[in-house]
Amino acid sequence: MVRKDLHTTQLGFQVIFFILCISLFNLSIGYGQTTFSVMDYGAKGDGQTDDTQAFVKAWTAVCGAIGGTPTLQIPSGTFLLKPLNFKGPCKANNIHIQVLGKIVAPSTVSAWGETVQVIVGCASKKLAAYGPGSIDGQGAPWWAQKKCERPRALLFNGCNDLTISGLSFINSPRAHVVINDCTGVSVSNIKIIAPEDSPNTDGIDLSGTTNAKIFDSSIGTGDDCIAINGGCSNVNITNIACGPGHGISIGSLGDSATDDSVEEVHVQFCNFTTTQNGARIKTVPGGTGFARKITYDHIWFDGTTKPIVIDQHYCNGAKVCAEKGKAIAVSDITFTNMQGTFSNDLAIKLDCDSTTGCKNIRMEQINLTPLEPTKEAPVVCNNAMGESISVTPPVPCLSSGYGSEGSHEEL
Ligand SMILES: *[C@@H]1O[C@H](CO)[C@@H](O)[C@H](O)[C@H]1NC(C)=O
Ligand SMILES: *[C@@H]1O[C@H](CO)[C@@H](O)[C@H](O)[C@H]1NC(C)=O
Repeated sequence: MVRKDLHTTQLGFQVIFFILCISLFNLSIGYGQTTFSVMDYGAKGDGQTDDTQAFVKAWTAVCGAIGGTPTLQIPSGTFLLKPLNFKGPCKANNIHIQVLGKIVAPSTVSAWGETVQVIVGCASKKLAAYGPGSIDGQGAPWWAQKKCERPRALLFNGCNDLTISGLSFINSPRAHVVINDCTGVSVSNIKIIAPEDSPNTDGIDLSGTTNAKIFDSSIGTGDDCIAINGGCSNVNITNIACGPGHGISIGSLGDSATDDSVEEVHVQFCNFTTTQNGARIKTVPGGTGFARKITYDHIWFDGTTKPIVIDQHYCNGAKVCAEKGKAIAVSDITFTNMQGTFSNDLAIKLDCDSTTGCKNIRMEQINLTPLEPTKEAPVVCNNAMGESISVTPPVPCLSSGYGSEGSHEEL
């Protein structure tokens, strides 16, 4: 349920950190100091004092350091921060941000203020942010307001070699980790936690990003655990525990008739525990572009409401979602080796546009069982073409492949 304002948003008061990476001139001449603790720049770390300015000063020192790997260190303690931008360009090729302690956002909406976000202008070629510390967005008062314009906890923009590992993210007002227009991203061993009913609290949102891997992490939020949006390609997602949440989703794509494309996304060895959706591709009628070459493999469901969904009639919850004569083309999608339980009366939904359809959908070795007996066949299958082999419940609009055991029922 990512809104399509990622590319156009006014960045003011949107994030705790806004990390802007622009490519940098290599100015390495010598090696100076490499670790810059925020304590040396006046941070108190007492959870009461606003440490924002100390962070800005420490960042300025890190960013101006020449050579080596200048490291911004946030030691143990609780650091109260207002929105800030770590600005660049920086002088070193590599910059690290080491978070040992806890960063907390202001606890009230008014205290966030309208300050310009901290731009982490990591004009470095490589940026690594690592734990074991945490970032707590204190989102509860924002969720209660039900406004769409809510800050996201951490935003990386235009990074070319970005690593995020070992960090925990808690209760962002909106999405927790947003990665826009980056190339070469590795996210691992992170933990994201927000309540099941917190609105739009996506775990990780990717847009315009290529060559990314997200692995060995656990994500439980009120919205998509991971959302892959327009402009992403070559994304591998492996060994993720998702739940609660709305699954690992492609899209939504094509909102407001935009041109959106996603390809080469591979989701493997992921578990969905009491999530609303699991493997999901959602597109809004009227868009152009494609979602193709997407695989979900070795997926395990436990009480998922709708485990497998391709929805070309997605209008973000609107009751009427009429076709517009064109749609994002969905093709070359495979769902393989999936098993577990579903909690509602829909295990598989392939709901494709009557003009564009979904092409080359392949399902194999899938066994989904209802937690309670279903009244009707728990499958929706419209305008989808492809093949199913050993799929339970059977998917009648896909042709059954050879060796089929569970998919030869005619409806
Ligand atoms: C994703 O996995 C494929 C297949 O193993 C591999 O060829 C590709 O390089 C991987 N991409 C990334 C970004 O890790
Ligand atoms: C998924 O569940 C299986 C079976 O319980 C378990 O072996 C595996 O470690 C889990 N993976 C994750 C990422 O939680």
